[in-house]
Amino acid sequence: MPNGHTLVETRALIMRFGPVTAVDGISFSVDRGEVVGFLGPNGAGKSTTMKIIAGFLEPTSGAAFVAGHDTRLDPIPARRHLGYLPEGAPAYPDMTVADFLGFVASLRGLTSRQTSNRLAELVESIDLAEVWNRRIEALSKGYKRRVGIAMALVHDPDVLILDEPTDGLDPNQKHEMRTLIRALAPSKAIIVSTHILEEVEAICTRAIVIARGKMLADATPAELLARAPERHGEDHQMVKTTRLEDAFRHITLEQAGV
Ligand SMILES: Nc1ncnc2c1ncn2[C@@H]1O[C@H](COP(=O)(O)OP(=O)(O)OP(=O)(O)O)[C@@H](O)[C@H]1O
Ligand SMILES: [Mg+2]
Repeated sequence: MPNGHTLVETRALIMRFGPVTAVDGISFSVDRGEVVGFLGPNGAGKSTTMKIIAGFLEPTSGAAFVAGHDTRLDPIPARRHLGYLPEGAPAYPDMTVADFLGFVASLRGLTSRQTSNRLAELVESIDLAEVWNRRIEALSKGYKRRVGIAMALVHDPDVLILDEPTDGLDPNQKHEMRTLIRALAPSKAIIVSTHILEEVEAICTRAIVIARGKMLADATPAELLARAPERHGEDHQMVKTTRLEDAFRHITLEQAGV
């Protein structure tokens, strides 16, 4: 580990699915206190990289470390430090939210007293009271997403890997989720993928741009903006863009040769 604050590190990760190279040499590290945004077009390799860090996929080559533990060689201590929100909805559609989160807490080794305290906190911070005794399969998409977030947070992990955490949430809940992520940030290392560029500016201290499995940028949102070409301002002067979208298009389309 490069220093005592580094909680996530990937070294030259490569993931091949048959002829497709989904992840093509990704190396970066994330320290406590950082919120790193994964940005990139559909199919770029964001979710695959997250699955490798979470220990759900073994890379073809390279390595990932969580809190200093190799996710392949040392998976149990790595997972203890990690909360992961995958794409899509949580499994166990027949369980109620209460039973499901209680089950997750028992898998995470919480005592029944710890479980009731922790679940009470999560009901509050993730606003789950309304659906607490409903079955997961009967929930709306946004509530399923919230249950997934609660699942990732049950054991208060040091590292959070959140794959499109605000996908499917209504605008108020998007705002709440961003507020929650910002509140968690100082004590954790967080990686979030998103297609919403304003979200990157709202919550991320750094952004990693990925396309076709390769890292095209690893910079602060302000540094990314500085890379975008100038555009015509209202008075026809050339001005620096203030839109991260322009920077994203410039970086990802330039690489694709469009
Ligand atoms: N299990 C799999 N088997 C075969 N190919 C896969 C598998 N999982 C992902 N891929 C391929 O790997 C590439 C990267 O996919 P990935 O899901 O990581 O992209 P992403 O950046 O998360 O995209 P999105 O923005 O659409 O979520 C794609 O070409 C995808 O089709
Ligand atoms: Mg994805």
